[in-house]
Amino acid sequence: MTFTNLPGATDRRIDALLALLADNTMIVISGAKIAREIGVTRSTVFRWIEKLRALGVRVKGHARTGYQIEEVPDILAPKILRKRLPQGPLGKKIHHFFKTDSTNSVAMLLGEQGEPHGTLVIAEEQTAGRGRAGHAWHSEKTNGIYMTLLLRPPVSPQQAPVITLVAGLAVRDAVVEQTGLVPDLRWPNDAMFGRKKFCGILTEMNAEQDQIHFVAVGIGINVNHKEIPDGLQKIATSLRIESGKIHSRVEIVTRLLWHMDSYYNRFLKEGPEPIVARFSEVSSFARGKRVRITTMNGAYVGTTEGLEPGGLLRVRRDDGRVLPVITGTLTEAD
Ligand code: BTN
Repeated sequence: MTFTNLPGATDRRIDALLALLADNTMIVISGAKIAREIGVTRSTVFRWIEKLRALGVRVKGHARTGYQIEEVPDILAPKILRKRLPQGPLGKKIHHFFKTDSTNSVAMLLGEQGEPHGTLVIAEEQTAGRGRAGHAWHSEKTNGIYMTLLLRPPVSPQQAPVITLVAGLAVRDAVVEQTGLVPDLRWPNDAMFGRKKFCGILTEMNAEQDQIHFVAVGIGINVNHKEIPDGLQKIATSLRIESGKIHSRVEIVTRLLWHMDSYYNRFLKEGPEPIVARFSEVSSFARGKRVRITTMNGAYVGTTEGLEPGGLLRVRRDDGRVLPVITGTLTEAD
């Protein structure tokens, strides 16, 4: 497995500890054995086990008796994720953080440093998670999924918006499989239940006029949040709130990357058409929805009239003009 330690990234020996516990669920392993296998002292093992407990990993036992877990820990660590992911570039290289500012910021830096296509940056917590239009993304510790895929798609910058649709479709499919609930997609980058959003996608691009160097596709999913912070309750929700159940983030990320792999390859082979068609099928926002588009220069209201072949959303404004939405934030009009 390829996994280099970036500054601030999870020590690969903690990753090894998690994998060792995960591979031996229901078996008691002595602190000495763990220490030997991962190459640290017993007191470090003790310290790290305490750290994992603080993150909600249920480790039984103590230094004298040995340690044991009953289920694979729901930590998005490279060794736990990697073996579940599809063959191929997506997630072949994983940088995991217990805490970072923003996985998108890390991925943008890695992109500049020549990190390969498919690299995944993933965190248990973000201190400065970023959303679109300068918004912050609330990134509560271990309850959500905060991940960014670094992609180097061999397509023109004009086709880059389709990658956001690809990611939205992958999130939707993963959530349907995991929860049995069917989310809506709000063009171009939100996954919703009714009027409440549980997932946002922030795609950032480094490109020249006719060539993409890389894109960072950042995905934030509210998974196990028991409640939504004040001020966001009317517009945000989580999978736990909607389904009444706690969900495995490892499962969701795994499913998401399998679907992402499939939609992304389809996009490269067949172009935007099947992606745009699928998005139009599953998004209630694609056609006939009254929407408000808020831009830096004000807002306008209109009715959606389908997606353009390149994935832009056509809106019939109330003054009669039908134009694609290029910038702005879209909400359902009252
Ligand atoms: C939005 O809806 O405005 C987009 C939200 C995107 C949030 C994710 S969380 C992982 C990645 N890192 C970030 O800083 N932002 C994205």
